[in-house]
Amino acid sequence: MFITLEGPEGSGKTSHLPPLVEFLRERGYSVFPTREPGGTSIGEQIRAVIHDLKNAEMHPRTETLLYQAARAQIVEEVIKPRLARGEVVISDRYFDSTIAYQGYGHGQDLEQVRQLVRYATGGLMPDLTILLDIDVELGLQRKSRQQEWNRLEAYTVEFHQRVRAGYLELVRQEPHRWRVVDASQAWQVVQQTLRELVCQALKS
Ligand SMILES: Nc1ncnc2c1ncn2[C@@H]1O[C@H](COP(=O)(O)OP(=O)(O)OP(=O)(O)O)[C@@H](O)[C@H]1O
Ligand SMILES: [Mg+2]
Repeated sequence: MFITLEGPEGSGKTSHLPPLVEFLRERGYSVFPTREPGGTSIGEQIRAVIHDLKNAEMHPRTETLLYQAARAQIVEEVIKPRLARGEVVISDRYFDSTIAYQGYGHGQDLEQVRQLVRYATGGLMPDLTILLDIDVELGLQRKSRQQEWNRLEAYTVEFHQRVRAGYLELVRQEPHRWRVVDASQAWQVVQQTLRELVCQALKS
């Protein structure tokens, strides 16, 4: 089973993944966590280029293509082989981030972006995608308490609002694949909900 966590900045994807993985392993599942962009040596190098604040002149098409390059590598090197061995792969972001950020956020042609995504993933779809939905300003506040901004986090609040609205539109288009969790709730409540949703999916 392939599960992806999505959501705007500061919604909790990265902080929820390790305890979720630990919980599932205790229950006997073979689980492999990964993150995008990155998750491979090549992907982490591309991640550094994407996130570097010095790359302020990066064009949205360049950004879109760099994400797909990292994605193609992680799909072939990590995700497909592990799924083939029967493992549960959980990814902190996957292609829906590209539709939301590079598509809706930057206002690029959605069908063109989807074509690139299909090329990069070879059509590999998640079985379940969980949206950690949060008010954009609350999410950005959480991040600002924690560390320095990366290049994407430094985009305007309006950009991030388009991203959030884009995610909600994706849920509307494909409700069977998505579950939405209100990420403004207390951390423990969100973690508990994630555990229940994933267990439900693994049992079905
Ligand atoms: N429900 C919550 N209540 C309070 N604080 C939270 C909650 N969820 C996450 N946080 C805190 O918010 C900060 C951002 O969370 P995290 O890095 O997991 O978000 P993220 O979705 O991975 O963000 P990004 O998209 O930028 O990578 C962290 O300091 C985290 O501990
Ligand atoms: Mg994160």
